[in-house]
Amino acid sequence: DTIYVLNGPNLNLLGLREPDIYGTDTLDDIAGQLEDRARDLDLKIDMRQSNHEGHLVDWLHEAQAEGAKAVILNGGAYTHTSVAIRDAIKAIVTPVIEVHLSNPHARESFRHRSHIAPVARGTIAGFGALSYLLALEAAARL
Ligand code: DQA
Repeated sequence: DTIYVLNGPNLNLLGLREPDIYGTDTLDDIAGQLEDRARDLDLKIDMRQSNHEGHLVDWLHEAQAEGAKAVILNGGAYTHTSVAIRDAIKAIVTPVIEVHLSNPHARESFRHRSHIAPVARGTIAGFGALSYLLALEAAARL
């Protein structure tokens, strides 16, 4: 089974971007950690990143079409703005787990609203790169 791991805007800069908030692991580092754990769980990781909202919508549709077991989604700032991504999650039956490196609720008020949370299977936030690994543990058990 395959787990799609979809990453939204600015996450290509992970490791360089505000390391005090997001840590020093790059997205490739996180992909490596996920792949190591996925091997033990007998799962495959399909890790992607885009700065474009529509790509994330297309990949959510693709996850269902390709029969992915689950999607782990860090929507980045689109979390707080995108009705299109929310609708795409609603439109598929594939379970989507929302992740964030930081804890958005401990930050600016504009990060307190997530359009994704109400349609996600669950949310893991605030544990840095570990948020992704915890989401993978959850995905494996769905
Ligand atoms: C983030 C939190 C968002 O508020 C922010 O816009 C991001 C990253 C996180 O992983 O902590 O880009 O999704």
